[in-house]
Amino acid sequence: KLTDSEGNSFSAVVVKGIHLPPFPLVESNINNYDKFHAREDDVWIVNWPKSGTHWVYEVVKLLMTDREELTDTVKEGTMFPEACAVESLEKLPSPRVLDTHVPLKLFPEEALKKSKIIYTLRNPKDAFVSGYYHVKNNVGSGYDGTWNGCFDLTIDENTCVYGSWFDHVADWMEVLENNPNALVVKYEDMQRNLKKEVRRIAEFLGYPKSEEIYENVTKKCSFGHMKKAKKEVKSFWKPGGSMYRKGIVGDWKNHFTVAQNEKFNAIFNEKRNKLRVSVDFEL
Ligand code: A3P
Repeated sequence: KLTDSEGNSFSAVVVKGIHLPPFPLVESNINNYDKFHAREDDVWIVNWPKSGTHWVYEVVKLLMTDREELTDTVKEGTMFPEACAVESLEKLPSPRVLDTHVPLKLFPEEALKKSKIIYTLRNPKDAFVSGYYHVKNNVGSGYDGTWNGCFDLTIDENTCVYGSWFDHVADWMEVLENNPNALVVKYEDMQRNLKKEVRRIAEFLGYPKSEEIYENVTKKCSFGHMKKAKKEVKSFWKPGGSMYRKGIVGDWKNHFTVAQNEKFNAIFNEKRNKLRVSVDFEL
């Protein structure tokens, strides 16, 4: 259990020194990654949690399948390898879309060499806030803490779920920087100009489309349409919880205290050179 500074806890499992959500068999799933067979047409969506996985997923699926409308359910037809046995991943037809939040050191090495990787980057202040609502509002975590308690756990590299945001980004950026099979997509750029990012993703994946299709994907992947069209897993959420919560840049300003902001900025300024990318805390 991870217990915050105010005494509220939620469950986590430590695998190779990293706290992970307690998915059934998460440890053996990750330890079995050496049996994972990467395919050249696999597409991975990788990020630190709450950085736009579901958003990029819908863009990718619309581009890859020629569908005009979103599928009903959340991330239909994809798998989350830390929560799935390697054998189930083998059974998925190509081209597979897989998504993971694991830090680089837990990622299957073969996939890094062979497959396409889209790394989604979101400013960590908003990702922290989004993560707070995720853990607080989902049924399984058992967490009933406050933003302040959750912030303390998340800013501390020893207690942060999926490891420190700073290490996650720095380690991934180092290997992806010169990898032609990798694309970095910023959540904030998607907010600024979704169609432009849709086109970048399509060209990167090798699925260039017409202007009309880019227009449609942009419309279908708007926050409002996704929130309305996607059926959420009811049993996952407490009343009011949602995977599509607010969908804005800057909600951190409604949550971070002055002291939290100073603490965060001090760490950010110390580590920013290692990140290799710029981070947009506002639009
Ligand atoms: P908020 O909690 O700040 O609203 P992930 O998919 O990685 O779990 O990230 C979830 C975050 O992405 C949530 O952020 C969610 O609202 C936001 N999101 C999902 N779909 C979006 C969309 N179409 N446009 C903007 N934000 C979106």
